[in-house]
Amino acid sequence: MAWLERFFAPCPRGLEALLCEELAALGAQAAKADRGGVQFRADWRAAYRANLESRLATRVLWLVGNAPYRSEDDIYRLTAGVAWEKWFGPGQTIRVSVTGRRSPVRSLEFVTLRIKDAVCDRFRARCGKRPSVDTAAPDMRIHAFLNERHVQLYLDLSGESLVRRGFKRANVQAPLKENLAAGILRLSAWQPDEPLVDPMCGSGTFLLEAAMMALRIAPGMGRNFALENMRHFDAPLWQEVVANAKAAELPRRALPIYGFDISAQEVRRTQVNLRAAQLHEWVAVQEHDVLTLVAPASAGVMVANPPYGVRLGEMDALAAFYPRLGDALKANWAGWRCCFLSADTNLPKLIRLKASGRTPLYNGALECRLYEYRMVAGSNQRRTQT
Ligand SMILES: C[S@@+](CC[C@H](N)C(=O)[O-])C[C@H]1O[C@@H](n2cnc3c(N)ncnc32)[C@H](O)[C@@H]1O
Repeated sequence: MAWLERFFAPCPRGLEALLCEELAALGAQAAKADRGGVQFRADWRAAYRANLESRLATRVLWLVGNAPYRSEDDIYRLTAGVAWEKWFGPGQTIRVSVTGRRSPVRSLEFVTLRIKDAVCDRFRARCGKRPSVDTAAPDMRIHAFLNERHVQLYLDLSGESLVRRGFKRANVQAPLKENLAAGILRLSAWQPDEPLVDPMCGSGTFLLEAAMMALRIAPGMGRNFALENMRHFDAPLWQEVVANAKAAELPRRALPIYGFDISAQEVRRTQVNLRAAQLHEWVAVQEHDVLTLVAPASAGVMVANPPYGVRLGEMDALAAFYPRLGDALKANWAGWRCCFLSADTNLPKLIRLKASGRTPLYNGALECRLYEYRMVAGSNQRRTQT
């Protein structure tokens, strides 16, 4: 059996179990959910596949050092003992990030500095030159995780976050992360031949993820990864992994995936994003108010993250909007499973429908719930959910 390396793939909190399943399907072994990610073992083929094909991981980190520690000096010594020069050169730029959970160290910034110094000192001693730091767009990212007693050092195989798919998207202020959207689609149990509607599609994140899933397009197709710039990069293996993913794509076809938004500007944004992904021909998008929208089929899945309020006026507007949304679902969406991601604790009360599911999920640091409502034909009576 090939030697298996150890990895950690972070993901939005709440998606760990789904990521375990996804990574196992890509060839990972011993996948184990941790808070905010998954630990796993894999050969390089599976590690490459995880980068290219995972829809849920935020990045793939390769464990290169692991030891107990008591002080910053212990962390310096561990870092200086790692053979960084085997994987990248002093001409490449680096960035160090440190996360601590119940770590006794006084300052994570100081640990970051010590790790950077240890890497640079090692390069200077062995190569006569040291890499420089680039915090904005580094060639190599080094991540350290500290708990009470152990430090783990990782080299980041992904580079830019995996939520950056292989096409450039129109900017949005607080977009839904692609991997969270993909996870919600999985949690909704949507099947690619089922009709799917996002009636408040904004920049179109759900639509893009759903279309890529339906056509089996690997999310990383067309982008670059840090692993390609590593000294031990296995180019023939990588080309094989990319060719296999390309061969698995399905022929492009019109999909039963529909997006709507009340704002013409958002509709245009979605169209720009679909075009950038070359999916604009296969997904229909229109300007429409969700409150008057009629289901395009007798059954299917609705997904959305409805508008949320921050200011008082917005909260009042939402307090009026949610009951009307509930009424619209009852009137026009019988036979559909409707899933809403929201951090707003008023939504379940005000929408006046009985939720059949409420899954805790994190949108960054923001605690949300995914509410599922099964709209049954003829269930027009009002029910209150608190
Ligand atoms: C939080 S954003 C959705 C973000 C989106 N999921 C994305 O990926 O960018 C909420 C969206 O709901 C839209 N919206 C608000 N009221 C609406 C209504 N009555 N009908 C349809 N869309 C509405 C807004 O224009 C906004 O684009």
